[in-house]
Amino acid sequence: MITVRVPAKVNVQLGVGGLRADGFHDLANVFFAVALGDEVTAAPGQGVTLTCSGPDAALVPLDDSNLAARAARLLAAHHGIEPNVALHIAKAIPVAGGMAGGSADGAAALVACDALWDLTTPLPVLLELAAELGSDVPFALLGGVALGRGRGELLTPLPVAGTFHWVFAVADGGLSTPAVFRECDRLREAAGTGSGEAEVPTPDADPALLAALAAGDPVALAGALTNDLQAAALSLRPALADCLAAGTAAGALAALVSGSGPTCAFLAKDALGAQAVAEALAASGTCRTAHVTHGPVPGAQVIGRA
Ligand code: C5P
Repeated sequence: MITVRVPAKVNVQLGVGGLRADGFHDLANVFFAVALGDEVTAAPGQGVTLTCSGPDAALVPLDDSNLAARAARLLAAHHGIEPNVALHIAKAIPVAGGMAGGSADGAAALVACDALWDLTTPLPVLLELAAELGSDVPFALLGGVALGRGRGELLTPLPVAGTFHWVFAVADGGLSTPAVFRECDRLREAAGTGSGEAEVPTPDADPALLAALAAGDPVALAGALTNDLQAAALSLRPALADCLAAGTAAGALAALVSGSGPTCAFLAKDALGAQAVAEALAASGTCRTAHVTHGPVPGAQVIGRA
């Protein structure tokens, strides 16, 4: 049996360009991997079976729409072998929370099945298979901090110093990523700026943000955090504004919606600061739970063989 640990992500910059003809948006997406993560185990099995444990297990689809099951089938098809594996997800990443938890499980299943089936697939091939599964899956293989261009799948690792301390406030109920992108387009149309590729400038990575990451400077990073999907997530879930305000009032350096939401991310000065923000958020009644974590951490990796 193989056990793989895989991180969740927060987007420290999520620059959203115009809607493309293929239904995706061009992004300047700076991914940051955090220690809050799932564990996926792969054991010998008959066909592909999938089970899940954890507080949100009931919210995880166990059919072939699950990216972990799809990853196992895709890897087997690539090598021309039968997909025989019993997958189990120990779920800690919020479901439909804007932290790429489903994508993380897809990446972890690729790595776990690759080890179980003794395939030693080269990383560039795993990254290509990951991109077929979804825009956020390749980053979960890499971890660390990386710039994602295209629809988010074309990755360049970025230099980063030290450790940053984060709090994630988990909301009740998820948000659908396509619905949040659609709302972003709707808001742009309503504002008269247009939402197509011709109207929205192609986003680029913010040099101040890249410098803050390279310097390991949380105050500078706090000043540079941006998420072009935040207005759309707040439009669909106005109560998130109360959660963001509660974290800021508790001393967070910055607050933003994580990816397409509804999880809210708070950057703290240090580990103690993060603890204080999490306690205040938990007491505020504006979220279901608050997790203290840190990053960057590595991408999907084998942590156990039995
Ligand atoms: O790639 P993934 O399956 O995770 O994307 C889910 C949905 O999110 C897409 O179908 C699309 O509606 C939206 N999306 C987008 N632009 C991106 C990534 C995702 O519009 N760059």
